[in-house]
Amino acid sequence: MRVLGIETTCDETAVAVVSDRLGMDGGDILSNEVLSQIAQHAAYGGVVPEIAARAHIDVLDRLIVRALANAKVELDDIDAIAAAAGPGLIGGVLIGVTAAKGLALATGKPFIAVNHLEAHALTARLTDHLDFPYVALLISGGHTQLVAVKGIGEYRRLGSTVDDAAGEAFDKVAKMLGLGYPGGPQIEQLAQDGDAHRFDFPRPMLGRAGADFSLSGLKTAVRQEILKIGTPGEQDTKDLAASFQAAIVDVIVDRVRAGVRLFTEGEGRPSGLVIGGGVAANGAIRRALTRLCAESGLRFVSPPANLCSDNGAIIAWAGLERFKRGMTDDLGFAARPRWPLDASASGTHHGKA
Ligand code: KG4
Ligand code: ZN
Repeated sequence: MRVLGIETTCDETAVAVVSDRLGMDGGDILSNEVLSQIAQHAAYGGVVPEIAARAHIDVLDRLIVRALANAKVELDDIDAIAAAAGPGLIGGVLIGVTAAKGLALATGKPFIAVNHLEAHALTARLTDHLDFPYVALLISGGHTQLVAVKGIGEYRRLGSTVDDAAGEAFDKVAKMLGLGYPGGPQIEQLAQDGDAHRFDFPRPMLGRAGADFSLSGLKTAVRQEILKIGTPGEQDTKDLAASFQAAIVDVIVDRVRAGVRLFTEGEGRPSGLVIGGGVAANGAIRRALTRLCAESGLRFVSPPANLCSDNGAIIAWAGLERFKRGMTDDLGFAARPRWPLDASASGTHHGKA
């Protein structure tokens, strides 16, 4: 069984072909083409929706051809066409969804509308054959949430950010420090040579009931420290990066610990903890979560960084998981700029809620 997956919800145009393994768990990525638009947005310090949508249009058709060619398959060999139908920047989402519907219509193959967050949450089943139920931590530029993954379409949100997303916090702090976009990788790099103890930044929500996150206070504290310094020198910048990263790592570890506790109370023991989203590439976060999981005897699944950030393979895989269960969508499915994961659990997958 082979599924083509299209991703256009943010600033990556991506197409992939993924197949399942006969009688076995997990899947094979036959091709995974990703074109990042970062260069086109860099001058603006963030993703500009209109530029993103136009850039998706420019490259998507060629990328589909390339994904098929690199997978050494024809459109005829594909069993279903999946696209991320939200949440995301609606101009971009519409382009991916419309392309997928067009292909489905022209070939008579089923169309599958994939929730982008669901795709991140299911990646561990593609890479590591993880069994349900488990806890997923999704940390990207647009999202920060902990989800109980109980089955396909069965999700319970354990906690989410009440203000900034983790990637947003990294990007905003990077901007304050005069670094380019995206800021996460640069903060991580600078933090390696910085003193994480020099600035005692707040750890919002630490120890709080529930598993929600709050990161805007931390960002404000960094801004105030920068104002106090005036013009941070090279070492100041490294120390600020290291101290900020240490604070965000502490917050994430505490919230994940709380989320796992909530999960255990509601669903019993999880089979593991999975991370996804661009921020999951961060080595300090990975190391801290590896430690947390080792302490609590929990399996930690961290897919490779290229499958944590946005790509078509995770969309194709989520499509494949749905297709195998007969969960296809009609061509009237409306792209959804907002699409909370738990809404699919209450029967609103079809975009009518
Ligand atoms: O998932 P993604 O590629 O796009 C979406 O936001 O959906 O994530 C991009 C985000 C950006 O905010 C970027 O700064 C952050 O992920 N990021 C990182 C790292 N690599 C990317 N944040 C911290 N450390 C990193 N190594
Ligand atoms: Zn994403």
